Amino acid sequence: MQDIDKLSEELAAAVAAAEDLEALEEVRIRALGRKGQVTSLMKGLGSMTADERKMAGPALNALKDRVGSAIEARREALKDLELEARLAGESLDLSLPVRPQNAGRIHPVSQVTDELTAIFADMGFTVAEGPDVETDFYNFTALNIPPEHPARQMHDTFYLESAPDAEAMCLRTHTSPVQIRHMQAEPPPHRIIVPGRTYRCDSDQTHTPMFHQVEGLVIDRDIHMGHLKGCLEGFARAFFEIDNLRMRFRPSHFPFTEPSAELDIGCSYEGGELRIGEGDDWLEILGCGMVHPHVLEYSGVDPAEWQGFAFGMGIDRIAMLKYGIPDLRAFFDCDLRWLEHYGFAPADQPSLAGGLAR
Ligand code: DAH
Repeated sequence: MQDIDKLSEELAAAVAAAEDLEALEEVRIRALGRKGQVTSLMKGLGSMTADERKMAGPALNALKDRVGSAIEARREALKDLELEARLAGESLDLSLPVRPQNAGRIHPVSQVTDELTAIFADMGFTVAEGPDVETDFYNFTALNIPPEHPARQMHDTFYLESAPDAEAMCLRTHTSPVQIRHMQAEPPPHRIIVPGRTYRCDSDQTHTPMFHQVEGLVIDRDIHMGHLKGCLEGFARAFFEIDNLRMRFRPSHFPFTEPSAELDIGCSYEGGELRIGEGDDWLEILGCGMVHPHVLEYSGVDPAEWQGFAFGMGIDRIAMLKYGIPDLRAFFDCDLRWLEHYGFAPADQPSLAGGLAR
């Protein structure tokens, strides 16, 4: 019995002294392994008298359990210690200031997308997305632009190669197809904006083959032109940060809206310099209108019950206007000097409360 007590103390000390999982495993093998000290003592039970065994058996079993639990407890503690050491070693100090020459800049397209998202989110809109590679159906037909419609030519579409009997695929020429996809996927009412990339085979100072648009769609039971007007006027004032911004809705035509309009904002071109919100000139910023009943039908929405408005706007274009950027092509040149000049500070998230741009 004295042997057992002594061994128990020794093993407890060995377990406590094990400094890592490897050392602990050695202790386990030494005590409980096939040739371990406790195991050998247990093997000795067979050669004892019945009386001796009655004493030694339970004591040895208790020892085995005690050592086993001590090892388990130590293993858990060591694992925690190991994790803590790793976490301490791998920690990053996020409060470290970035050296100004290493700080990145936010691209005007990202900045303006964040700004307009903040404005429309405040009006209850959510952001939806759709694929850049579209079918002819979603890009045109479902938007009330049937095959042979002249509007198809105006879009300078990039078509993808496809098998002769497969449906034609293209790079979307506008964000409008997401209207259809969204209405098909979810039941009305709808209140979404869709910022994203769009593509047309066109390139000059104000056109690039890839550019950005934001689409807007509101569908509910009693939506009328007054809602469209209020929504877009509210947006334009908030975006250009001019409270008494002059605006006019000019009649226009889009196959997917009826009636259709374009929104112009007041500006001046005095001395060759564009100033928004001043002077007697006008500048077009977006197309809009009441969603055509055919578009609702293609989307599985009953036009007798639901109606609404939609709008589409060039993100790059309103970025150029707001921030006085002259050449669109520079947006996509990846010239760091340009980004340094026209970009925005990374940590300043645009918000209506905190300000859109600083
Ligand atoms: N999809 C049009 C374009 O790219 C823009 C547009 C005009 C979108 C009117 C609309 C709208 O939703 O109602 O030229």
